Amino acid sequence: MANRDFLTLLDCSSEELDDIVERARELKTQRQDRSLHQSLSGRTLAMVFQQNSTRTRMGFEAGMSQLGGHAVFLSPDDTQLGRGEPISDTARVLSEMVDAVVIRTPSHEDLVTFAEAASVPVINAMTSRFHPCQLLADVQTYTELRGPIAGRAVAFVGDGYNMCHSYINAARQWGFQLKIACPEGYEPDPEILASCNNAVLVGSAREAVDQADLVVTDVWSSMGHDKEEQAGRMTRFAPYQVNEDLLDQASPEVVFLHCLPAHRGEEVSETLLDDPRSAVWQEAGNRLHTQKALLEFLLT
Ligand code: CP
Repeated sequence: MANRDFLTLLDCSSEELDDIVERARELKTQRQDRSLHQSLSGRTLAMVFQQNSTRTRMGFEAGMSQLGGHAVFLSPDDTQLGRGEPISDTARVLSEMVDAVVIRTPSHEDLVTFAEAASVPVINAMTSRFHPCQLLADVQTYTELRGPIAGRAVAFVGDGYNMCHSYINAARQWGFQLKIACPEGYEPDPEILASCNNAVLVGSAREAVDQADLVVTDVWSSMGHDKEEQAGRMTRFAPYQVNEDLLDQASPEVVFLHCLPAHRGEEVSETLLDDPRSAVWQEAGNRLHTQKALLEFLLT
């Protein structure tokens, strides 16, 4: 059977994504009960990270260890990638040695090149286009707190970048209604937006959040963005801060999520992460459980 990759949420069917999230909930319960479940015993995961990471890296490393396998972290400083070895050669070499590869690279094209050359499953640990692993944790978190996300009203407020693109794909796959509010010039890729019938751009953060069941944001300036441009971004994005007053416009049952790391005082108010409506710490913890479920899905 051909390898399955996880480069975007569209690499799985809706039913498969539901199965992964359901399995993540089982694995979370097993971990809370301290029961041992070593479904990946003897398996090795290579983790090629060209950018910093806390949650994604720890989710995969701890996840492999808890499932009885082993993860090897490779930064550009440690590998020949940092000295110009072609990414497709690296993919072929790692495929001879490990059972799967996780990659964080700014270039989505490099990720695709790697996956095409690899003969083992390849997982997108975030590119400038998509962050599908984060969405598995977000959907698990919402589902745990409020039940199925299908049909719910979701607001994405902020930069039309990789998290926004992933929410558009998630709206396609899980069937929720997505309203996106971005400053002019920072909208999502029009092709990605057009691919989803239930995602729309709206004119203001308030319009997006009105009666929303789930409100999501991300940093205004992501890894890889031009540092010179940052000051301009702060001014343009200021009306898009998610704060307590904005969240008061949402449903009384609203959940607030942020993939983290957050910049308090910028895309979120100083205090919002600890507001009772915020579930960001549960969301971060669910990175572990969903990534374990994803590894099992791809490897067993
Ligand atoms: N949200 C997220 O991907 O966090 P890290 O950059 O710490 O992995």
